[in-house]
Amino acid sequence: MPDYRRRATRDAMSVRLDVNGMMADAIGQAGVARDDVEGLQTRAAQIAGTLKAQRAAGALPFYDLPYQKEALALTKALAADVRGECDTLVVLGIGGSALGTKTLVAALGDTTPRVLVADNVDPWSFGHLLDGLDLTRTTFNVISKSGETGETMAQFLIVRDLLLRQLGAVDYKKRVVVSTDAEKGALRQVVHDEGFRDLVIPAGVGGRFSVLTTVGLFPAAVAGLRVDELLAGAAWMDTRCEVADLWRHPAHLLATLLYLADTHHKQNIVVMMPYSDRLQSFAAWFAQLWAESLGKARGVDGSAVHTGQTPVAAVGATDQHSQLQLYAEGPADKVIVMLRVEDHGRELPVPSAYADLESIGYLGGTGLGQLLNLEQQATELALVKQQRPVITVTVPQINAFTLGQLFYLFEAAVVFAGGLYRINPLDQPGVEESKRFTYGLVGRKGFEAKRAEVEAWRARKRGDYVL
Ligand code: PA5
Repeated sequence: MPDYRRRATRDAMSVRLDVNGMMADAIGQAGVARDDVEGLQTRAAQIAGTLKAQRAAGALPFYDLPYQKEALALTKALAADVRGECDTLVVLGIGGSALGTKTLVAALGDTTPRVLVADNVDPWSFGHLLDGLDLTRTTFNVISKSGETGETMAQFLIVRDLLLRQLGAVDYKKRVVVSTDAEKGALRQVVHDEGFRDLVIPAGVGGRFSVLTTVGLFPAAVAGLRVDELLAGAAWMDTRCEVADLWRHPAHLLATLLYLADTHHKQNIVVMMPYSDRLQSFAAWFAQLWAESLGKARGVDGSAVHTGQTPVAAVGATDQHSQLQLYAEGPADKVIVMLRVEDHGRELPVPSAYADLESIGYLGGTGLGQLLNLEQQATELALVKQQRPVITVTVPQINAFTLGQLFYLFEAAVVFAGGLYRINPLDQPGVEESKRFTYGLVGRKGFEAKRAEVEAWRARKRGDYVL
C-alpha cells in the first residue's frame, strides 16, 4: 500500500478527542476557561520537557513499547507454538497483570484459542473456571512482575498441583508459561528450577503500564489478535503527541483539562463511560491507571498532598438508567468521559411494527448501534445543559489499532497529570500495607508484627458497633 493511502487509512482510524463539553464556553463557570489552560502553558512545556528528557534517558520505558522488536518477535514465536497446543489459555495474574489482557480479550471478541483471565482468589469463580477445563488442552500463563503476588502465587500453586496430578511430573511443565522479571523475584527462581517456558516483563514498566509488554501481547497473540496493529496504534498516538502546542496534544490536553476540573472546580470524580459493552473492561483498566497513578499522599517534594480523582466505571446506555440521574443532578463533582464507537462491527436493525403506537413504532428502521450512538449524543447534551463537564472520545471501530491508541493516550495522559499534580505517578505505596497485613495473617515468616497489628485492631473493635 502506498504511504499516502496507508496514512489515510490510519487517519480514518484515529481516535478523536472532543473537549467542547468541558469548556466554560459551553457550560459556564463549571467549565474550564481557555485562560486557565493558557495559564498552564509554561508549566506544561516544562513538564513535557522533563518527560522527554526522562524518556530519552530510558527512565520511562513504557513510552517506547510501541517500537519494541526483539521482545515482540520472541512473544509472537512462543504464542505461535502455544496456539497449536491448546484450546484455552488461562491467564493467572491480578491488577496490572490482568486488566489490560481482560480489556483486549473483551474488546476483540471470541477467539480461538479462547483466553480466560483469572484475576481473583474467589474460590467459587476460580474453582468453577478450573472445573470446566480440559487440562490436556489448556495452557496457563502465570503473570507476575514481582514474582510473589500472593493471589497469583496461590492460583499458580493450585494449578501446578492439579497439573502434576493429572499430567505427571514431565508433561505438566508443558502447560505453563511464566511472564516475570528477567532476574528478580521468586517466580524467576521457579522458572530456573522447573524449566518452564518464560517471557520477560521489562524492568521499569509498572503493572498498570504493562499491557503493551509481554503481559498483554502474549495472551493477545495466542488468541490470534493482531499485536503488531496494537503497537502500531500506540505508535500512531505517540506520533500525534509529538506536538508542542498544548491545545493540539491529545494526551496532555486531556490531562490538563481533568487536572483543572479537579483543582479549580472541585470535580474530583472521573466517570469513564464507554457506549459499548466491549469496552466495559477498558473502563476498569482506566480506573486502575487513574487511581493508582494519581492517588498519592506525598508530592515529589515530600509534602502532604493527598491528590487524585476518583475513577468510576460506567457503561452506556445501561447506566443512563442507573447512574445518570446522579451525574446530571447530584453534586457537581464529576467529569464524564464518554467513549463513542462509530462502527460497532455489526448492526441489528429494529424491525418496523406497531406503526399506530407512536411510543414503540418510532424505533422501527433504526439500528441498535445507531440507537446507542444517538443516546450518547443525547446524553452528552443533556449533561452539558446541566453544566456538567463531558469529554467525548470517538473510536472509529474497536480493533487492535484503536485499542493501542486508547491505551497509549491514557498512559501518556496520566504521566503528564502526575507532573501537574507534582506527584510520582509510577509508584503505589498505598497498596503495600494491605499486602503486608495479608502476609502476616496467612503466616508468612517475617510478618509476625503485621499479624499482631491486625489482631490488635480486632481487639479494639467495640462489640456494640457490630450488629
Ligand atoms: O499496577 C500495579 O503495579 C499492580 O496492580 C500490579 O500489577 C499487581 O499488584 C500485580 O503485581 P505483580 O505483577 O507483581 O504480580
